[in-house]
Order: sequence, then structure tokens, then C-alpha cells
Amino acid sequence: MTEPIRRHSMTELIVRKRDGLALDASELSWIVERYTDGSVTDYQMAAFLMAVLWRGLDTAELVTWTEAMLHSGEVLDLGRVSDAKIDKHSTGGVGDKVSIPLAPIVAACGVAVPMMSGRGLGHTGGTLDKLESIPGFTTALDPGRFVEIVERLGIVLAGQSETLVPADRKIYALRDATGTVESIPLISSSIMSKKLAEDLDGLVLDVKVGSGAFMKDVESATQLAHTMIGIGAAHGTPVVAVLTDMDQPLGRAVGNANEIAESLDVLEGHGPPDVTELTMLLGEEMLVLADPGRDRGEARQALDEAVASGRALEVFASVVEAQGGNPRVVTDRSLLDVAPHARPITASRNGYVTRCDAMAVGVAAVRLGAGRAAKEDEVDHGVGITLSAKRGDRVDAGDLLGEVRYRDEHRLAAALALLDEAWEISDEPPPQRPLVLGTLP
Ligand code: URA
Repeated sequence: MTEPIRRHSMTELIVRKRDGLALDASELSWIVERYTDGSVTDYQMAAFLMAVLWRGLDTAELVTWTEAMLHSGEVLDLGRVSDAKIDKHSTGGVGDKVSIPLAPIVAACGVAVPMMSGRGLGHTGGTLDKLESIPGFTTALDPGRFVEIVERLGIVLAGQSETLVPADRKIYALRDATGTVESIPLISSSIMSKKLAEDLDGLVLDVKVGSGAFMKDVESATQLAHTMIGIGAAHGTPVVAVLTDMDQPLGRAVGNANEIAESLDVLEGHGPPDVTELTMLLGEEMLVLADPGRDRGEARQALDEAVASGRALEVFASVVEAQGGNPRVVTDRSLLDVAPHARPITASRNGYVTRCDAMAVGVAAVRLGAGRAAKEDEVDHGVGITLSAKRGDRVDAGDLLGEVRYRDEHRLAAALALLDEAWEISDEPPPQRPLVLGTLP
């Protein structure tokens, strides 16, 4: 018989965590359970999350917290899927649409990808918000439908729901609006609770490092990666973490619908070099995790072939259709929303772009309406930023650095206050910064 959960005072637990004391398993499970069922309020949970952000969770606390989130809903049973089941998750970046082309490319290579993603978080974009810019596409699937789609197509692109990791669904939205994102225990429990609910054979993590990431330096990104690898190991799920650059946005498109268009470019074989390269590198890791005996060169060839043959694009169209979206989006980009007004940003001098700041661009996109300021906000799928010049590019005064798509003049002004400072131009070209900064374990 399982022990009944004791009653606790949320105020006392907030105070204890605020004062740096550890909470026991019953207390932490109680918080997650009671917040999920609505009996702990948003304001109390926000205070608790802020206390965790400052005080952290020790290893025992993190294990309990992650378990409680994982078991807040149903854990999937994908036992009838015979292919290896491998997923990928990013810790969050700007212009990071990699999951969208990656999942169908890998699925086209015969590896099942039961992907559970997130919405925009802080200044970073969310795969679910981007996918929902496809007319009709739904990311809210009940467990039965989730499993049925993976069994049929070898891929699903869904989110947390009332029944799938509901605790993360609520805590994630609350963190987004309360400045409680940048915490190693909160990020790792959020990611790993979703991923462990997917009944995976392996997981590839893209741990972002730099101005536009939640982890600003390699040391903290490495700590985050080790924390998640440890949670995976405790559950018998192999995890590979790739540390990648997020000092400047990935690709050229930052927003929602425009990122779907750029994802389609990757699936058609003509995406921006950085997005394409990262997609293929992470795809290699996924194929090798699925079959550790597989040669990397052969994995890369399979991924290239999935794109060149059009199979990856077909898989994407089929999952869009299965999730209620209009599959014609793969051939007709006019189905994607574009905000009515455009504003160019131009170079003030000749020189080399030495910085295109991911944080400034990410916050500007949120200010335009591509992300949320409050939990209840709707995102505007048609607004966003297209970058014409990135680090290392040579520009002359008056050349286009980027273009803003907007709907509202006030929002534009707020975004421009950041974008006008986002590019740095100097006489000398900047040193090369590699896209991949390390792979763990
Ligand atoms: N992705 C998630 O799912 N959760 C986080 O906290 C950060 C990135």
C-alpha cells in the first residue's frame, strides 16, 4: 500500500526553501501534486519557484521533484513500437527550430521520434508555438492519440497536456511569466520529466551556451548537461548532451511562422548552413544512439538521403495531417501568417559584423508578440525578425542587417530599442566561434 501524502502548509514550505533548508520527499511530492490539481495557487508556486531558483535543490530533492512531475500524469507505453525510440530536446535558444526538421528526417531513417516539446520560455522560442502557426495543427494530444500516431507514422510532435506531464505544463507556463527559468534543477526536471514520460530508448540533448541561452558559459552548461545525464542514468535512459553555441540566433528566422518556413527550407535541402549542420549533427547522434554499432559516416549518409529523396518532407506532411494541420503547407508557404508591416534595420557603418546578439533579438521577438509576457497571452505567429547579416559578414553602411515584421507600432518601438543595438560592426572580422562546443558524457 502506498503511504498517503501528508498535509502540509505551502507557506511554511516556501519559507523553508527560501531559508535554504532541504525539503523531504513527502513535502516536494505534495507541492507538485497539489499545484497540479489546483489547490496550491499560482502565487504560492511562483514564490516557491523563485526560492528554488536562488537556493537550488540537492540531488535527493531533484530526484523526488522530477519523479513527482513525471508521475503527475500518464507515462506512455510505446511497447508496440518496434523501432528504437529516440528523442531530442534543446535547453532553449533563439531561432532554434532544429526539432522541426530533425524529427521527420530521423523518422525517415527508421528511428521512432515520440517528441514532446515546450512553448516559448523567457526570451527563447518554443517548438509548440512554432508548429501551431501551421493552420489547424494541434499539439495537445491525449496519450491514446499520441501513441497511435507514433505507432502509425514513427513520429509525433506534441506537448504536455492535462494527462501528459500536466505538472510541467503548469510550472513551465508559470516560470515563463515569473522570471524563474534560469535554474539548473528547474530546467533539468522540466526537460527530463517530459522525456522520461515518453518511454524512450535514448535522448539527445542540445545544451545551449551563450548570450541567448539560459546557461551563459560552458561551465554552467556542462553542469546542466551532467545533471540531466544523471537523471537519465537513474532511469536507465542513455543521454548524450551536445553543447552548442547560442551567442547569436540560429539561422535567419526568429519568430514562429517564419521559423516553420525556414524548417521547410532545411527539409528541402536548402536551409541556412548553421541550422542544417546542427540538424544533421544531432541526427547523427540520434541514429548512433538508436544503433550504437552504426558508423557515423553511414548515419550522415542516411540523413542526407532522407532529405534528398524528399522522404523527410513527406514524413513531415504526414505528421502535420495526422495532428490536424494542413499538409499543403509543405508546398504552399502562403498558408503561413506574415504580419502586414515590415521595417528594415540597416548598418550604420562599413565593416564586419562582430556580434548579432541572441538575447537582444530573442527579447525583441517577444516584445513584438512572438512570445508571452503573461501566462494567458496568445502568441502572434506572423510577427518576427529575419536576419540578413550575422557574425563574420562584411557589410557597408546602409546594407540590410535585418527586417522586422510587425503588427503594432508600440510593439515595434519596444523591439527596435533592442534591435538597434543588437548588431556590432568593427573594422576587423571576429574570430571564428564553433557551432559545437563539446559532447558529453
Ligand atoms: N526546455 C524545457 O522543456 N524546460 C525548460 O525549463 C527549458 C527548456
